[in-house]
Amino acid sequence: MSKKTVLVTGGTRGIGKAISKRLAQDGFEVFFTGRSGDSIDSATSGQAISLDLAKEESVEKFVRGWTKPLFALINNAAICETSKLGEPTSFSIWNKVIQVNLTSTFYLTNELLGRIQKGGRIVNISSQLGVEGRGGYGAYCASKFAINGLTKVWAKELGERGINVNSICPGWVETEMTMSDLSRIAKEKNISEKQMYQEICAPLELKRMNKPEEVAGLVSFLLGPDGGAITGRDLLLQTIWNEM
Ligand SMILES: NC(=O)c1ccc[n+]([C@@H]2O[C@H](COP(=O)([O-])OP(=O)(O)OC[C@H]3O[C@@H](n4cnc5c(N)ncnc54)[C@H](OP(=O)(O)O)[C@@H]3O)[C@@H](O)[C@H]2O)c1
Repeated sequence: MSKKTVLVTGGTRGIGKAISKRLAQDGFEVFFTGRSGDSIDSATSGQAISLDLAKEESVEKFVRGWTKPLFALINNAAICETSKLGEPTSFSIWNKVIQVNLTSTFYLTNELLGRIQKGGRIVNISSQLGVEGRGGYGAYCASKFAINGLTKVWAKELGERGINVNSICPGWVETEMTMSDLSRIAKEKNISEKQMYQEICAPLELKRMNKPEEVAGLVSFLLGPDGGAITGRDLLLQTIWNEM
């Protein structure tokens, strides 16, 4: 029997890499994207495709070239640019973040909808900052709130075709994105990264950050038969409500 095909955006590192790896282990045919194209290490995680969500022409070229039927699309790629503590979000950060996290994700998904098979799945990797605000994260929060909104719209529009659409909203996950965020905030607060890590984890239920593999496990569940009745939901991992 031929394998079901899944496409993971931003599979070169972090959560997307863990998702690609897990879905390959689950027996899916995995394609993952990143900006680094052919130089991406595809040894364990599937087949790499070059895609830059910051460039309209790259996204257009990608969707024109995609001809395979898809079982699942995992919208994972995103950037997180913030203003300095206490400063409002600049227009240039807004444009950049909204383009990558929202406009391109919307365009890519819309263009690939026709390729998604009956009974297929869309999983949007959103954030807990898609259900709560945090100072300095104006563009990122707006993009993730909007992604959660689109999840509910697509779930309604695609339900008749048996396609389930959900958002996963992680809190802090130990990835490059997190560590560069953590390091920036630590510098602004003039404390060490270790102190910053402890400060972040103190209010968390589990007193630790989540792991990329834990997000990947939830994606795996949603793509499996047990995930068949779940659609239009925001699935939150442990809560993070500490203001920094
Ligand atoms: N880490 C967390 O604590 C956390 C918490 C909540 C939600 N999330 C969400 O989880 C997802 C993954 O985050 P992560 O922490 O794994 O991030 P990451 O380590 O920074 O990885 C981001 C991925 O997105 C790709 N990417 C970045 N800019 C891109 C662009 N312009 N075009 C195409 N691909 C691009 C990167 O690939 P290339 O660099 O090769 O292009 C990389 O594979 C994101 O949606 C993020 O918002 C993360």
